Amino acid sequence: MNFLNIAKSRYSVRNYNGKKVEEDKLNKILEAAHVAPTAANLQPVHLIVVQEEPGLAKINKAANIYKAPLAIIVCSDHSKAWTRPFDNKQTADIDASIITDHMMLAAFELGLGTVWVCYFKPDVIKNEFDLPDDLEPVNILVIGYSDDEPASPERHAIQRIPLSELVSYEKLA
Ligand SMILES: Cc1cc2nc3c(=O)[nH]c(=O)nc-3n(C[C@H](O)[C@H](O)[C@H](O)COP(=O)(O)O)c2cc1C
Repeated sequence: MNFLNIAKSRYSVRNYNGKKVEEDKLNKILEAAHVAPTAANLQPVHLIVVQEEPGLAKINKAANIYKAPLAIIVCSDHSKAWTRPFDNKQTADIDASIITDHMMLAAFELGLGTVWVCYFKPDVIKNEFDLPDDLEPVNILVIGYSDDEPASPERHAIQRIPLSELVSYEKLA
């Protein structure tokens, strides 16, 4: 499948069939994370892979992860991230999200379903996983085998704003 087909065919999965994610697939997903770009190549991200019951139970205290067998907590490391000098904007969350997107698309290409979760209680994740102050949980990528009907790759025609609304050329339209 070429990239655009992968991007169009991926959909958020909120029902999983319980089958565990194989180690070789997990390793490929993590490899996709490893090669993702970050600002100034500072790599201010740490991933916590959770697939054992005690860890999943901890996440369940903070978020709905749809009974998936695997979740990756994507944390920004604010002590390492690049900051733009003109306005002090720090790019840690952008870096974390690029890594999350790489993993999400890699997982789909491997036949896995995912859903990107931000609706979680960050203080609960921080406490349950003993995260230091600088490490902020930004995204949770939920992964497993889909028990949902695949969404149509053509759905974006109605489920996204028109391209003409998304994009301006040369100046703000
Ligand atoms: C930054 C971000 C946060 C999201 N948080 C959640 C979430 O907490 N729970 C959830 O079920 N879906 C979440 N989603 C999934 C979106 O709802 C979903 O991607 C969107 O509705 C488009 O649907 P699609 O992924 O099937 O194309 C999130 C997606 C993104 C990109």
